[in-house]
Amino acid sequence: MKFELAVLPGDGIGVDVTTEAVKVLQATGERFGHTFNRHHGLVGGIAIDQTGEALPKETLKMCRGAQAVLLGAVGGPKWDDPRARVRPEDGLLALRKGLGLFANLRPVKVFPMLTNSSNLKPEIIEGVDFIFVRELTGGLYFGKPKRQWQTSRGRRAVDSMAYSEQEIERIVRVGFELARGRQKKLVSVDKANVLESSRLWRQVAMEVAEEYPDIELEHMLVDACAMRLIQNPRYLDVVVTENTFGDILTDEASMLAGSMGMLPSASLAGAPREGTSTFGLYEPIHGSAPRRAGLNMANPIAAILSVAMMLRYSLSLTKEAQTIEAAVEQSLNEGYRTYDIMSEDKTKLGTKEMGDLIAGKVGGQ
Ligand code: IPM
Ligand code: MN
Repeated sequence: MKFELAVLPGDGIGVDVTTEAVKVLQATGERFGHTFNRHHGLVGGIAIDQTGEALPKETLKMCRGAQAVLLGAVGGPKWDDPRARVRPEDGLLALRKGLGLFANLRPVKVFPMLTNSSNLKPEIIEGVDFIFVRELTGGLYFGKPKRQWQTSRGRRAVDSMAYSEQEIERIVRVGFELARGRQKKLVSVDKANVLESSRLWRQVAMEVAEEYPDIELEHMLVDACAMRLIQNPRYLDVVVTENTFGDILTDEASMLAGSMGMLPSASLAGAPREGTSTFGLYEPIHGSAPRRAGLNMANPIAAILSVAMMLRYSLSLTKEAQTIEAAVEQSLNEGYRTYDIMSEDKTKLGTKEMGDLIAGKVGGQ
């Protein structure tokens, strides 16, 4: 089969890890007889440097014409001036919004051979396997008013955590749908004891729950969830939450898996359904780590696992996705590690070598 894909490496290690992810994608194509036509585009800091915009129109157009988008990371100190007119992150946010990708799935799975790579005790993280459903196009990130201004008594700034019931309903629904295919337990995270937007969130979650009598719904306050994540992470299975809470909690959750370099993500326009292809954007959850860029250090596994998610959700290539996941697992089982998950007696590899190893296994070597 033939597929049209948009590839946006972005900035920093985004470039390093995307190169390896594409390598694995190519190996998958060769093994299973698919052609993945890749269209490369600019987003983030590199796009600002070359075009003045964080998301050039051509990039958005190209993504709209593709079946899926593979993204690296955006940002870096070069573009970090808080007074700048445009920021790399604006490009990513405009892409998510412009493509209607409101559902961000972030699976957190602890590989058995990495339980010693985490800062947490092995007995706490053993068997951890849950998924975050982060709302991605609302809340503080996009709410209006959002501005900074001068008053007679100094500067002020405001961001707005705004949600409509429709926005809440569609994301909570994604949570229920995923829970149906898993442990039938959904945790909805909010701050309903303080925030009005969370009180609406909780009401809507309870209303939607009536349509899912087979699913057990639990409400958890965001501070308690932050605690639960490191106290007893096995308690969680499917967690649905608003944009900012999800951003913060998933960085925390990545530490269970040993490193941010291990976690892939999918941003979709709806709940994924077995056997159907949902348009989506796939990216590792880590950032651009500018200090490690170009040093052949970064862990490409999050990006490679993002390719597997892309094959599964957007291209309906389940067998191919499983092959990539198995190749990653086998490489780890054989003791190969990048610096971020390195431990005693293991073999340290650079970004390229890890990519070659996994691509080789996908190709049947
Ligand atoms: C993420 C990142 C982004 C976010 C940044 C780069 C805008 O941290 O995908 O989690 O905050 O959503
Ligand atoms: Mn983040």
